[in-house]
Amino acid sequence: MPLKYLVILGSVRDNRNGLRVSKFILEKLSHLPHEFKLLDPLELNLPLVRTPLHFFKDPKEAPQILHSINKDIVDSDAFLIVTPEYNQSIPPALSNLLNYFPPASYAHKPSAICCYSISMFGGIRCSIQLRGMLIELGSVSIPSLFSISKVTEALNEDGTANDKTMDERCDKFLKQLEWYAMAIKEHKKTIPPS
Ligand SMILES: Cc1cc2nc3c(=O)[nH]c(=O)nc-3n(C[C@H](O)[C@H](O)[C@H](O)COP(=O)(O)O)c2cc1C
Repeated sequence: MPLKYLVILGSVRDNRNGLRVSKFILEKLSHLPHEFKLLDPLELNLPLVRTPLHFFKDPKEAPQILHSINKDIVDSDAFLIVTPEYNQSIPPALSNLLNYFPPASYAHKPSAICCYSISMFGGIRCSIQLRGMLIELGSVSIPSLFSISKVTEALNEDGTANDKTMDERCDKFLKQLEWYAMAIKEHKKTIPPS
């Protein structure tokens, strides 16, 4: 069963290490029999949320870009979030992007978190808070995390790994996301979410 993954980046920082992580992840996804699309807050360049899409009284008044991103979210079967931790928390570019869209767009779909940092914490403290946010948005956070400590040592700029365990850990993580995405997609065919 082919799936549609939406990969969402968490950093817009100059010289962000997130690019090496997303290159690694996208390369892995390219070997799977699924589609994937990237949502990069740097490219989208949305201002701080003033009116989320679902707060417009007349949806036709919302900027077209919000409708377009919302369609990507609605059309996807699973979310893969690639994010650092900023001050032990969720980077503002990520929460800003996610906050624009209604829980109904994310609901009943699995999400997986690939977190990283330059320290040994590997972004894990962001992932704890991000799970809470994703649950609030209605997404089902899978049990596995793919955490990358010392990201500049683990991955090269071109996204290739120096750490031999990276491939094995990532494959296992993506397998779990695939399992949840297939299970939920299949179940929704017979029993629509209430
Ligand atoms: C505002 C800010 C806060 C940060 N806070 C943390 C932190 O809490 N824990 C950590 O391990 N690294 C922290 N770092 C370092 C990041 O792990 C490192 O800069 C990483 O490369 C960030 O990802 P990015 O380059 O894709 O933005 C912080 C970096 C920034 C810019």
